[in-house]
This record gives sequence, structure tokens and C-alpha cells, in this order.
Amino acid sequence: MSNVQIANEAGITAAVAALRRGQLIGLPTETVYGLAADITHDAALSEIFRVKGRPSNHPLIVHIADIAQLDDVASYVSPACRALVDHCWPGPLTVVVPAAPHVSRVATGGLDTVAVRLPSSRAAQEVIARLGNAVAAPSANRFGHVSPTTAQHVAHDLGDDVAIVLDDGPCELGVESTIVDCTKQQPEILRPGSITPEAVRRILAAAKIELASGVSGPSRASGMLARHYAPLATLVLHEQQAIVPQDGSPVVDCATDPITAAHDLYANLRHLDALGHRVVHVIMPRAEGVGFALRDRLKKAATAL
Ligand code: TXA
Ligand code: MG
Repeated sequence: MSNVQIANEAGITAAVAALRRGQLIGLPTETVYGLAADITHDAALSEIFRVKGRPSNHPLIVHIADIAQLDDVASYVSPACRALVDHCWPGPLTVVVPAAPHVSRVATGGLDTVAVRLPSSRAAQEVIARLGNAVAAPSANRFGHVSPTTAQHVAHDLGDDVAIVLDDGPCELGVESTIVDCTKQQPEILRPGSITPEAVRRILAAAKIELASGVSGPSRASGMLARHYAPLATLVLHEQQAIVPQDGSPVVDCATDPITAAHDLYANLRHLDALGHRVVHVIMPRAEGVGFALRDRLKKAATAL
């Protein structure tokens, strides 16, 4: 597809130019591909909501290229937040912090808090650093559907609604970042990811800070809606036992090797949808390591409308 460009020098230069013009790009990261706009272009930010079909009060994640940029977008960085970003950035951690006054309220969905992440993807860092501004980017899929983990997924879903899709190959991790709300006295995990609850708890404990128990509570994180990340097929979830479906429908094993299962999950679901399967069986991983995040995504993908 013509708007896919390899994330080499020429591709990155073209992507930065498109962002400067106020256009949207498909941005590779280590988690999933993002649909990115320059944070200083309100019209481009609004376009993200239109293209995704996402309600305008669902905030976006602001991506930065340098840890020091956190202090530009946050009005306050708590000791807990500092400890988390010092350990986990660059990487698949998003922190929710009080927003500095100049941060676009289009990006924050009208909130006075902002979600911030420093991706480890070199291509993403390069684009943001050369642009000189942060970029706001949700996952580059239509609202509620399966996230994209290749440039081809983005091109397939969004077509000409995105000026350029930078192709940096399949995403390294395959599940969206861990989101930690650092605006409260006790930090709270809003969405699990590759950075596990155990890891978050350990980092905070070293700083003598307690993590709020459990994951969630009501929030503006769209990944927290009951049905999200959903394929067309109905997912049937099984707890670790091997199964042989009588109707010949496919089985996705997420138990044997959860890290590889996470890497491949969204590509597998898209592929099985493309083949026209109505029912897909899934063997669930244990609730440990990335298995915790995988279980969260699978349960949301399986919830009937
Ligand atoms: O790995 C990721 O986080 C990917 C890549 C592209 O960086 N992005 C991603 O974005 O998953 P998205 O928009 O699909 O999910 C972002 C989540 C949403 O559920 C959103 O509601 C939540 O972050 N969020 C953003 N700002 C927030 C805030 N101020 N308070 C609470 N939740 C927030
Ligand atoms: Mg998403």
C-alpha cells in the first residue's frame, strides 16, 4: 500500500514533515502502532478522534522522546511517578500525571491530567525528537477493535485517513503499555501490560510507596470498557486445559509461551477474522508476568456486546 514507508532516514523525514503539516501518521512503538499527531496541532488532534471513531472525551497518550520532557507536560511529578519512570523508561509504561496548563485539552479529552509515555522504539524516538514536540497517539485501530502490531494492519484499517504509516516491522511486545495513575496519593494500575503489577509494586516498595490494590476502578481509560480489543469472531476462553473443538474451529494457545502469545495475539486474531472463523478457542495463560495483561485483553475481547 502506497502510504506505508520503511522507517529509514527518508521515511522518518517524511513522517516528521507530515506531522508538521498537521497530518496523522502511523507510528511504530514496541507495544502497538499508534495514530500520531503533533501535540501542538489541535485540528490534527481532533482528526485522531474522527478517524478512530473515538468519543472526544477519551484521552490520548502523549509520547515523548526524552525523560526530561515529562516535566514540560506535567505540572507535578510525584516521587512515585519519578521512581517508576526512572526504572521503566524508555519502555511500555504510561504514567497519568497532572497536566501542565499549555497541554492541549483536546489531547487530554478535557481532563486536567495527562497520560505520558517514552517508548523504547528507536523509530518513534527519532520522529518525536526531530519534530521537537511531543505527539499524541492512541492505538491506530478503529475504536473498540483489535490493535495493530504491523504497519500493514494500520494501512488496512485506516487507509488514506493516515498520511504515512512508518513501517518498523512487527511490534516487539504486542500488548499496549501498562498505565499507572500517579495523580493520587496511592498509585493505581489502570491497565496491565508487559510491565507487570509485581514489577510496579517492587519499584514502588523500594521508594516506600504502596500500590493501590487490584487493577482499576472507574476511569477514563477506554481499554477499561467491558468490551474492547474485540475481533469479529466470538472468543471462547478455556482455563489452561488442552481442548479439541468438535466443530474444527481454531485454538490459540496463550498458556505455553505467554510472551510469544502476547507478541502474536492481535495478528492472530486479525488473521483468523480474515479467514472468516466465527468462533476461536483460546487457552488462557496463568495470571502472572505478561499473562496478567493477556488475560485482561482476552476477557475484554471475549465479552459479548
Ligand atoms: O502502548 C500503548 O499505550 C499504545 C501505544 C500507541 O503507545 N497506545 C495506546 O493508546 O494503547 P490508547 O488510546 O488505545 O489507550 C490509551 C489509554 C486509553 O484507555 C485512555 O483512556 C487512557 O490511556 N488515558 C489517557 N489519558 C488518561 C488520563 N488522563 N487518565 C486516565 N486514563 C487515560
Ligand atoms: Mg487502543
